[in-house]
Amino acid sequence: MSAKIISGTEVAKEIRAELKTEVETLKAKHNVVPGLVTILVGEDPASQSYVAAKNKTAKELGIHSEQITLPADTPEDELLNLVAKCNQDPKINGILVQLPLPKHIDEAKVLYAIDPDKDVDGFHPVNVGKMVLGEQCFLPCTPHGILELLTRSGVETSGAEVVIVGRSNIVGKPIANLMLQKRDGGNATVTLCHTRTKDIAAHTKRADIIIAAVGVPKMITADMVKDGVAVIDVGVNRIGMSDSGKAILAGDVDFAGIKEKAACITPVPGGVGPMTITMLMKNTVQAAKQAAG
Ligand code: GUN
Repeated sequence: MSAKIISGTEVAKEIRAELKTEVETLKAKHNVVPGLVTILVGEDPASQSYVAAKNKTAKELGIHSEQITLPADTPEDELLNLVAKCNQDPKINGILVQLPLPKHIDEAKVLYAIDPDKDVDGFHPVNVGKMVLGEQCFLPCTPHGILELLTRSGVETSGAEVVIVGRSNIVGKPIANLMLQKRDGGNATVTLCHTRTKDIAAHTKRADIIIAAVGVPKMITADMVKDGVAVIDVGVNRIGMSDSGKAILAGDVDFAGIKEKAACITPVPGGVGPMTITMLMKNTVQAAKQAAG
């Protein structure tokens, strides 16, 4: 069997087309233009490319976007003041501070300073708490994108054994919560594996759905999965550089080996990545609608 490839690029295109229409309607009927600000501190090349992609997508959808880049040695106070200014700016509906931040800045302090109503990343504890309770809130973009990918690809989560590898605040913990919830796209039995899990393969071998978010290239191999599994690969690992100077990427999953056993699998690149950016746009449009009442 060769797996069906779940194209995040295609699903993202579909959602972006829906969002573009929504943005046009908001402008025409309510004179509302959603606004997003991205704040990048420092010069990490991966972060630079993520932020550039977020701003490019926003512009393509008709979302007003501002990109602020600060030097790596920016004092914490200065960043907090900038966040406070954005909180007050009526043109801005969504604030995204790109992570990771330089070591001298307290990441939690900065994320907590963002107005929860503008927290389009869904990282503020108010939104995290609401998510866990199953209340209406901004969902974190990567987990939200995974839900959409599974739902729109027809992967049944209800009653499924879902094994997540990786317990980060950005992916592992929130996707575990969302998969548990009592609603469409949830209702799964969830196992969350991490670095201290004794035998990861024992868990992944009985999974109907595997979500890999560990940051270790090709860690999940074909001998660790059962036939017919659905695999979502969140890993974006730079494993080398091409002759033309482009980063060579690998996921957390051994794609070539697993695609012979799986029912469906996301590629890297072109899987979860485009969905993360798209859900950020969805949250920004949602924030603008909420602000307009
Ligand atoms: N760094 C890696 N992923 C993310 C994300 O989803 N949001 C932000 N703000 N930073 C990130």
